[in-house]
Amino acid sequence: MQVGTERIQEIVKSLRNFSRLDETELKQVNIHEGIDNTLMILEHRLQARHEYPEIKVIKKYSQLPNVTCYPGQLNQVFMNIIVNAIDALEALVVNDQWSKVNPQTTSNQILTKNNPKIEIKTEVIDEKWITVSIADNGLGINEEFHSKLFDPFFTTKAVGKGTGLGLFISYQIIVEKDKGQIRCFSVPGEGAEFVIRIPIC
Ligand SMILES: Nc1ncnc2c1ncn2[C@@H]1O[C@H](COP(=O)(O)OP(=O)(O)OP(=O)(O)O)[C@@H](O)[C@H]1O
Ligand SMILES: [Mg+2]
Repeated sequence: MQVGTERIQEIVKSLRNFSRLDETELKQVNIHEGIDNTLMILEHRLQARHEYPEIKVIKKYSQLPNVTCYPGQLNQVFMNIIVNAIDALEALVVNDQWSKVNPQTTSNQILTKNNPKIEIKTEVIDEKWITVSIADNGLGINEEFHSKLFDPFFTTKAVGKGTGLGLFISYQIIVEKDKGQIRCFSVPGEGAEFVIRIPIC
């Protein structure tokens, strides 16, 4: 019971930090805190359960300055991208709807089934920019979809599973509001990497 209540306490604290309802203004934000809160909320999807193996999260955090942005919204972006990565890793295990997108299972995908991981790297690029990169070794993204990823309602997921708004909203927040950049790199069958550039001030 004690372990359970401690865990509930942690989740409630993370949810409160994550949504930052009391902070709708531009603010100095600690990026790593935002990522860690997001991971805490998603922990139930990272743990091993039923046929899904545990998803390892590898953090490669650099020393970062605080950046000025809307904290709740930035956390929303981390959430959207990490949830997509988890979906892409789970899709390798239960390859139902997604098999239409990527019919050939490569040897690398079979390996990934047993070794799913998400790597989160932060870096200072120069005095103006920091980057956050979130990479998975999941299904990957076919070349033909790259130009559509950030369009509203573009989804390859089953009806009722994806609305196709996650990356569209993330793009609005990063590019339109925070004057940053968001890009995707992927080799189909090997995984996908989303790189966010955020201006320091
Ligand atoms: N890490 C990833 N690996 C493979 N495909 C991805 C990844 N991230 C995004 N995609 C592809 O981009 C599409 C659009 O992503 P987006 O987050 O906008 O929508 P969604 O996840 O389908 O639905 P929603 O986020 O609204 O629930 C996904 O349906 C998927 O095909
Ligand atoms: Mg999504």
